[in-house]
Amino acid sequence: MELRQTLFGVDVPAPVLLAAGTCGFGEEVAGVTDLGRIGGLVTKSVTLEPREGNPAPRVAEFDAGMLNSIGLANPGAHRVRDEKLPWIRDHLSEIRVFVSVAGHRVEEYLEVVEILDGSEGFLGYELNLSCPNDTRLGGLPFALDPEALTEVVAGVRARTERPIVVKLAPNAPDLAPIVQAAEAAGADGLTLVNTLPGLAFDPVSRRPLLGAGAGGMSGPALRSVGVHAVWRASQSTSLPLIGVGGVVRGEDAVQYFLAGASLVQVGTASFWDPRSAPRVLTEIRGFARRNRVASITEWIGAGQFGGLRPETPEVEAVVDG
Ligand code: FUM
Repeated sequence: MELRQTLFGVDVPAPVLLAAGTCGFGEEVAGVTDLGRIGGLVTKSVTLEPREGNPAPRVAEFDAGMLNSIGLANPGAHRVRDEKLPWIRDHLSEIRVFVSVAGHRVEEYLEVVEILDGSEGFLGYELNLSCPNDTRLGGLPFALDPEALTEVVAGVRARTERPIVVKLAPNAPDLAPIVQAAEAAGADGLTLVNTLPGLAFDPVSRRPLLGAGAGGMSGPALRSVGVHAVWRASQSTSLPLIGVGGVVRGEDAVQYFLAGASLVQVGTASFWDPRSAPRVLTEIRGFARRNRVASITEWIGAGQFGGLRPETPEVEAVVDG
């Protein structure tokens, strides 16, 4: 099966990437999974200053997924440039690496990109505008506010020639204006979706399971939300889409392709089994063989909607009473 695609102006060897926050900067997982077998990875989000992150416990599992509130723990842009990117340059030249960037303020994103952009070894940026745990100061998360999102994306666009992918949130009331704002501001692709805000209590202690209180929900419970978001985004843009949320098996990835994603990311499943991403790739191949699909492009956007109207606005789906 042909899994290669040309995206963002380069050859992407396989349609499965590791998601931000689940593989550090690659080096942390290189001993337990074969990174050369997958299409690429997205680093942990990088902020201007180093961050210690939120109090433990930072993750809590439940039946259908996981909550996390890591608090964007990372070494900060200068150490990432000096210590992490050289390793990526020297070890991951066969795969595509996006550096995830996060911040409290617009200027923070711009400064991080200015610090990193002269380094070698990575393809582009994934702008994390949708972290539910450590978010924009003084407003909605950037991914829920088209004007604020525009400021970040346009500012980064003016500072780099590299591809920019914008990571969006699952809880936008309507994705269309957000998707259109990202494209108009210069995004080259979109990642859908980040985690969904969630909260779990210990019924005995009556305290939240996470040290920080609320967190972001991921895993199988997020899959249909992510697939829906990809499909909604595909109605508003022809930018390449990257699906993430609940990809555990090859067939989960195929759902994202049918909704319109060109690539998928594996996140929570990697915590359960660090070899999940290469296994998902193997399963995609097997599923394609059994179903006589010769190229991944046969799947992308090929979901059949039957009697449903793809153009139906989400607001119309709200039933009175
Ligand atoms: O808490 C965290 O570091 C999570 C980040 C994210 O979901 O973007």
